[in-house]
Amino acid sequence: MSFSPTVRPTVAALTSSRIRDIANAAMGKNDVAAFWFGESDEPTPDFIREAAQTALTEGQTFYTHNLGLPELREAIADYESRLHGVSLSSSRIAVTGSGVSALMIAGQLVLSPGDKAVVVTPIWPNIAEGPRLIGAEVIRHPLTIRNGRWTLDIDRLIETLTPDIAFLILNAPNNPTGFTMTSEDQKAILEHCRKHGIWLLSDEVYERLIFDGTDAAPSMIRHAEPEDRLILVNSFSKAWRMTGWRLGWLTLPEAMMPDVPKVIEYNTSCAPAFVQKGALAALTDRRGEDAVNALKASLGTARATLLEGLAATGRIEVPDADGAMYAFFRIDGHPNDMAVAKALVTDYGLGLAPGSAFGPEGDGWLRWCYAAKPERIAEGVERLNRFLAAN
Ligand SMILES: Cc1ncc(COP(=O)(O)O)c(C=O)c1O
Repeated sequence: MSFSPTVRPTVAALTSSRIRDIANAAMGKNDVAAFWFGESDEPTPDFIREAAQTALTEGQTFYTHNLGLPELREAIADYESRLHGVSLSSSRIAVTGSGVSALMIAGQLVLSPGDKAVVVTPIWPNIAEGPRLIGAEVIRHPLTIRNGRWTLDIDRLIETLTPDIAFLILNAPNNPTGFTMTSEDQKAILEHCRKHGIWLLSDEVYERLIFDGTDAAPSMIRHAEPEDRLILVNSFSKAWRMTGWRLGWLTLPEAMMPDVPKVIEYNTSCAPAFVQKGALAALTDRRGEDAVNALKASLGTARATLLEGLAATGRIEVPDADGAMYAFFRIDGHPNDMAVAKALVTDYGLGLAPGSAFGPEGDGWLRWCYAAKPERIAEGVERLNRFLAAN
């Protein structure tokens, strides 16, 4: 008798990234205008890199506290308090080695195998696959398009949130649609979850990338009591262009804090000290806010260029949304997103993410990250037009 050296069934059943499938199809091609990943084409601002370099030069190469450097936790609590007009204690902040690690740690803290987790979709695949890795059952609740906008049917969501549901995961502004929640809907959801003891995980990593003229998208923290079953996930990746640094944070109820260090210890133990020092500069140096505002301004221009280009084709539907950094659209007469994404990259050198990477609700859609220079966007639109002319 022989035993096969394979992974456990839960891991085998996880979905692999369809974005990677398309990126792999482009291997060996040099001329690809790629917009498939969710990151800016500009490196991290200089002053953040310099702060990390100084920390390295000083020899800050040791483990830190599981929850992060005290001064960084303090700076995060001050920043969130300022941004949302709340009073948040640094004792509720845990620094994590990326936003995706924060998501996983949040799941490990409260989910047990067999628990039911509701996820509002379409959604970045990592958010829905993490709970499945823990053995939870994931129930998908799709957004709908109403009057040309991504919309959450709040009454239907509340109906879905029966007392046997353990966990609700929301991501707004949303990847991939850009859907942003209203403050009233957030309040209603939080009140419902509170009544039934449902844990609420709010992924707010795109909170600064909002185009309605405000400083930040509405946050669940504005309605919360400190003892609510609410966990917020955030990241340095998007607002400060720090994707490669791998640094995020969790905001948690005080009652969980004695146990959080254990879970971080068994995942990563801590985030690197010099990376945390870079992030500290992002939050405490005056140039941090300037960098966020400059990013927002350039995203606004890039977004306008892309939406104009897509509209001019006359064959593309792009529902409206207020946040994040993606256009999520579909092309009339082309329902197979994987086939279109493959053809675009292999025959026209345009790299987009297939919508089905974000779940079955994304079948037929494509995601374009517009955190790119306007001339690159214009080049991408030209390639798309060449595809449309021939197909
Ligand atoms: C919705 C959402 N949450 C979390 C993350 C995680 O970001 P990171 O792991 O780079 O901090 C991403 C990254 O794309 C995202 O789109």
